[in-house]
Amino acid sequence: MLYVGIDLGTSAVKLLLMDGDGKIQKIVSREYPLYFPHPGWSEQKPEDWYEQVMDGMKELIAEADKSKIAGISFGGQMHGLVILDKEDQVIRPAILWNDGRTYEECDYLNNVIGKEKLSEYTANISFTGFTAPKILWVKNKEPENFKKIVKIMLPKDYIAYKLTGVNCTDVSDASGMLLMDVKNRRWSKEMCEICGISEEMLPKLYESYECVGTVKPEIAKELGIPETVKVAAGAGDNAAAAVGTGTVGDGMCNISLGTSGTIFISSEKFGVDKNNALHAFAHADGHYHLMGCMLSAASCNKWWMDEIIGTSDYGEEQKKIGTLGENHVYFLPYLMGERSPHNNPNARGTFIGMTMDTTRADMTQAVLEGVAFALRDSFEVAKSLGIKIERTKICGGGAKSPLWKKMIANILNLKVDVIESEEGPALGGAMLAAVACGEYKNVEEAAAKIVKIVDTVEPEEELVKKYDERYQQFRQIYPACKPLFDIIK
Ligand code: XUL
Repeated sequence: MLYVGIDLGTSAVKLLLMDGDGKIQKIVSREYPLYFPHPGWSEQKPEDWYEQVMDGMKELIAEADKSKIAGISFGGQMHGLVILDKEDQVIRPAILWNDGRTYEECDYLNNVIGKEKLSEYTANISFTGFTAPKILWVKNKEPENFKKIVKIMLPKDYIAYKLTGVNCTDVSDASGMLLMDVKNRRWSKEMCEICGISEEMLPKLYESYECVGTVKPEIAKELGIPETVKVAAGAGDNAAAAVGTGTVGDGMCNISLGTSGTIFISSEKFGVDKNNALHAFAHADGHYHLMGCMLSAASCNKWWMDEIIGTSDYGEEQKKIGTLGENHVYFLPYLMGERSPHNNPNARGTFIGMTMDTTRADMTQAVLEGVAFALRDSFEVAKSLGIKIERTKICGGGAKSPLWKKMIANILNLKVDVIESEEGPALGGAMLAAVACGEYKNVEEAAAKIVKIVDTVEPEEELVKKYDERYQQFRQIYPACKPLFDIIK
């Protein structure tokens, strides 16, 4: 049978067709616009997502035996607020995961309601990108729109709703709404009350690998697929990426270098970092995970290459980089503010340490290293909790760069396992569909059979030492700049 994984990303949707043995048959991608209506705001139109999903889907399955398509599922950009009115129309553009407008609402949640209460209700505190503060923002700043809300959903759930007519979500993605009691995998009555919404507005909660329904007859007709095609709930893109890289079960790690950068640690048991610097979320394998998320990762390199240097040949630019571990230029990668671990929407991108002999290659190197150092900031939090990690998988666009993988291996002192396909969330989505259709017993079995490690980048003792010295300098730059970020916002 055949399974479709839909990775609803921030810059594009990626659709992947996988057979029952886990072999990738085809990948298609479609872009859609991203709007920044004010500095620090970030929006997209759900209608654009749907249009591009359907268009991409048609190309994806054009030459396939459509009668063999059995299941569809998702990995989706997390935290985005999609609101529908009583006619099922989108009320306003979706407010995305990297949008920083809700600092007043976050301040209210974290300091008036209080972090302890939030952590008790949801296992997490409020970050500007999370969904609950966005609901409060609409309530405070767009009361007319707030009054119209009948359904609240996450980005990939809007697609599932359009395909099946079922208002559903999954526990991994719902964890990032700050509306779910993560430990018990149910909505938090207290949080609904705090946000002024009723539980009926929220989607029904499923495990990621559960079937939520079948495609609507008109969708089956439009795509030429059987009406029996099942749709599984899917997962937030990081949990889906973890499935796609085999980061399931206990104590496994995955780093995703996409628009955002995440470090994801799977755990069989529920656990919370006492300072809530890491997110404590449900995992798509039925268990839990801890995650640090930086808001700009591969997007920093894209910005530096496309907007500043003006080149599309990223590989050529990276070839000019010389010795590692000796760069005296540093870059703080906070182009959209920062989530983990600083939780500061006012943080900004910053270069420091240039001299007259600094080259363009030194600056490119600083950008790549800055992202790796910032990932290490979250990794240090995990280590401080006593979590022992020696190796990680890696996925996302940035994982295509051998140099970046080497920097990550040496800056975090981790063995980096390279897998056959770095299509994390799209592959994970297809795997969840296969589990929902009974092709595999569970997510662990699917991961064990499908995910193959093809190479390992080993940290080198000397370089680890040099980079550790550099990291000790890097970590002093943010606290020194922080008061300035508050002034220049
Ligand atoms: C995770 C997060 C991002 C988005 C990117 O908390 O906000 O990784 O999911 O799509």
